[in-house]
Amino acid sequence: MLVADLDAEAGARVAAKLGGEAASHAVDVSQAGQVRDLIERAVREWGGLDVMVNNAGVGVAATTPETDEAEWDRLMDVNLKGTFLGMKYAIPAIRDSGGGSVVNISSVAALVGVPDRAAYSAAKGGILSLTRAAAIDHVAEGVRVNCICPGTVDTPWIGRITAGYPDPQAARAAMEARQPHGRFVTPEEIAAMAAYLASDEAGSVVGAAMIVDGGLTAR
Ligand SMILES: NC(=O)c1ccc[n+]([C@@H]2O[C@H](COP(=O)([O-])OP(=O)(O)OC[C@H]3O[C@@H](n4cnc5c(N)ncnc54)[C@H](O)[C@@H]3O)[C@@H](O)[C@H]2O)c1
Repeated sequence: MLVADLDAEAGARVAAKLGGEAASHAVDVSQAGQVRDLIERAVREWGGLDVMVNNAGVGVAATTPETDEAEWDRLMDVNLKGTFLGMKYAIPAIRDSGGGSVVNISSVAALVGVPDRAAYSAAKGGILSLTRAAAIDHVAEGVRVNCICPGTVDTPWIGRITAGYPDPQAARAAMEARQPHGRFVTPEEIAAMAAYLASDEAGSVVGAAMIVDGGLTAR
């Protein structure tokens, strides 16, 4: 497994935790040449590519009129273009390796209106639509493309949001209490869905948006 992230140290930490053949690779997913190099390395060192997870993402908290144009461009470059580039280079590599799976990380923001997340929602909606388009284009080549729509997941992302409040602990508890199942989604629950989508058991799951949100979009 090749762990790719802009933050080289974080990627190396995850690879070390995974152990075995896992390695890390520093990449800015908005840069085509860097994504191409990443996929070429995976194919060269592992003898092929089975699964690509497009997970990198950034957020901007703003309504549409409030969104700064440069922030819009950067968010689209990382979230939407980054996913496009990951698919552009991974799909042929997966096809040439005998088939496999692409898992894109969208969001519930692609499905329902989330306040103060205009650019983010647009990018995640784009990822959902691109997932469906690519799923239809490549299913006959043995490449299944799906996405996950997570709800509120307990990652460093949440820490950055709550850090902006006078009482971060209280803000965290309030966010958690708002979840229908009374807690945050865990990163492990998202990883489990990604592992399922990547597995042969998901052989008929094509172009799907798998919601993992503790009921957030059900009410
Ligand atoms: N945490 C949530 O509640 C939540 C909900 C729905 C969707 N998501 C999505 O899940 C994904 C992971 O988010 P997270 O919560 O773990 O956030 P996070 O900020 O903890 O992790 C995001 C990772 O993306 C990396 N990254 C940022 N820009 C990059 C770039 N240009 N190239 C390569 N890597 C880059 C960061 O270094 C970081 O490791 C994102 O796509 C996010 O939109 C998160």
